[in-house]
Amino acid sequence: PRYFALIPAAGVGARMAADGPKQYLSVGGKPMLRHALDAFLASPLIAHTYVVVSPDDGQIDAVLPPAGVTVLRCGGATRMDSVLNALRALQGAVGEGDMMLVHDAARPGLTPALIAKLIAGVAGHPAGGLLALPVVDTVKRSTAAEAGPGAAVGSGSGSGSGPGPGPAKVATVPRDGLWLAQTPQMFSYALLARALGAATDASAITDDASAVEALGLSPRLVEGHPRNLKVTLPADIRIAEMYLAEPQ
Ligand code: C5P
Repeated sequence: PRYFALIPAAGVGARMAADGPKQYLSVGGKPMLRHALDAFLASPLIAHTYVVVSPDDGQIDAVLPPAGVTVLRCGGATRMDSVLNALRALQGAVGEGDMMLVHDAARPGLTPALIAKLIAGVAGHPAGGLLALPVVDTVKRSTAAEAGPGAAVGSGSGSGSGPGPGPAKVATVPRDGLWLAQTPQMFSYALLARALGAATDASAITDDASAVEALGLSPRLVEGHPRNLKVTLPADIRIAEMYLAEPQ
């Protein structure tokens, strides 16, 4: 197969509280999105790179490298919509058996070595696969049913912060076998289009792999790297810059 990169970059980055979409924030002297584009352009395994932006995006042209990237102006309301719209736009240009590496614009630490590791690790696996990291923290679950005001402290969207009669019931989730999903996530064009096209509950589909899993398939997990973190909060930019300053 051929390998194509697809970067959904049509988000608004609400959690960054910054001016404008986070993929255009400067990280280590370059817009965040440009780091991801450059990683794919530097990989000899990638046939072509596509980026999906919203139809009214006015910043993408200033971020593009001189050659090698095609812009698709068909971003949607959710990440899933953006990826699915892009797949539809690529129908014919990409073969059914070609592989799509879908990568978040918010992960500037990707390297050609990680791209190669993903491709080698997933080769021949019909359900595709993704970079991921084993969970190192002890994981707690706060059960919403018994959650009361103040039971879970913080501003997150955690299920334990809703109203209710008493304190949340807290339990420890054994971390054995738990992984944190990264991107790129790689699937054949046909499988990814089928999985995203079949997804009914967009809120349950937080990455491409979850849509494939909903078909009853098990994508392969390939160990990624902490440098491939997702920039979500303002302080993540400094962590990303620290990794970007390191040799790859
Ligand atoms: O906001 P979050 O970090 O989850 O976004 C993940 C990726 O999905 C980002 O690259 C973002 O630009 C992209 N996205 C998109 N279309 C949307 C929402 C997010 O392409 N409607």
